[in-house]
Amino acid sequence: MKKTILSTFLLVLCTHALVFSQSDYKPAPENIEARQWFQDAKFGLFIHWGVYSVLGDGEWILNQRKIPLKSYEKLPEAFNPTQFDAAEWVSLAKATGMKYITITSKHHDGFAMWDSKVSDWDIVDRTPYKKDVLKMLSAECKKQGIKLFFYHSHLDWHQPDYYPFGATGKEIAGRKTGGNFNKYLDYMDAQLTELLTNYGDIGGIWFDGWWDQKSKGTATNIDWRLSKTYSLIHKLQPGCMIGNNHHVEPFPGEDFQMFEKDLPGGNSAGFNADSKIGALPLETCETMNNSWGFNITDNKYKSTKDLIHYMVKAAGYNANFLLNVGPMSNGKIQPEFQQTLREMGEWTKVNGETIYGTRGVPGAAREWGVMTTKGDKVYLHILKGEDATFIIPNYGKKLKSAVLFKDKSKVKIVTEDKEMAVIQLSNYNKEEIDTIVELQF
Ligand code: GLC
Repeated sequence: MKKTILSTFLLVLCTHALVFSQSDYKPAPENIEARQWFQDAKFGLFIHWGVYSVLGDGEWILNQRKIPLKSYEKLPEAFNPTQFDAAEWVSLAKATGMKYITITSKHHDGFAMWDSKVSDWDIVDRTPYKKDVLKMLSAECKKQGIKLFFYHSHLDWHQPDYYPFGATGKEIAGRKTGGNFNKYLDYMDAQLTELLTNYGDIGGIWFDGWWDQKSKGTATNIDWRLSKTYSLIHKLQPGCMIGNNHHVEPFPGEDFQMFEKDLPGGNSAGFNADSKIGALPLETCETMNNSWGFNITDNKYKSTKDLIHYMVKAAGYNANFLLNVGPMSNGKIQPEFQQTLREMGEWTKVNGETIYGTRGVPGAAREWGVMTTKGDKVYLHILKGEDATFIIPNYGKKLKSAVLFKDKSKVKIVTEDKEMAVIQLSNYNKEEIDTIVELQF
């Protein structure tokens, strides 16, 4: 009996210590290092993959089509990705010039893409495939030197303790009412513990779905216990970076800030998005067509040029670019995506030096493009327009040289004072995608 009281007391004490620690959160040295790495990495592959891929109509289909839960539960039986080859996916990401992969461990349908022990609503227990794809992917990422992040949905339309319901999923028949939200959060923490214990070093957790319970501003209808969950993650893996797609300013305990489908500062996506740029490393994510999960009729493919422009702009805004694919239920990434990714890879191979390891030049986004900087170099990325003369802030430093990045041919420095330099491109062949001028200070 005594023992029980003592352990309860210790548990309460520990919980308090954990809760306290996040409001005062100081990232561990491993985390600081991870942030640095992240900012240098610049480019990642987002993967939305789940049993919804079978229906080929995006990852929200359970909600959109108001599929009764019992019917949706038949879907895993049809999910048999026999052509999945982790090595192929990771090699494709590498050939594109990507440095990390962020894959959906669990989306809003609650289905676990790994062998969860706290639920049987998972790939090993419910599908004919029976294999833990996250295990295979994590091993392959390690082998090929790519970091792995997990997208993890707070929101869960399947777990019976996710109650009260949030703003979405109310019309899915068969959802149980009367669950206990704290029990749901214990379940979520238990699943996160599995993900951070059995899959080696995880680059980060990319949360989504907080907004399902949003009331106004940063207030929510339930207590998400973020502090407790964040502490748990940082306790299990101090270097694991936490980001949350909540579309408001970062909360204590977070390590990076994302802008969904927007360059930093934009708030066009998400529920009443109202997020200002904070001090954390930044990321923006985008789709290759208009869907996250596999969508068989969505053929509005963005061009290679547009996607490279988005990546370059993201770098100019000091953000990483996380580019999404929604693989098919057979385990393949569709050829249209593969082709564009390989073309992007051709570009990053030649021009990556002006992107990786750089930082954006603050306030330097222009009508014609953006600037990135590394060491004593500044790269002008001229993405559009007919201008030949460019005014560049030089922050009081002497501009030593200006050349085209492509062939190091000279670019004329017209004039220079303490604040700015004027350069002029003469006789230059404008690149189809990005004319890069390298300035050395
Ligand atoms: C949104 C959607 C979700 C998608 C995510 C990616 O939050 O709910 O389906 O996973 O954006 O950014």
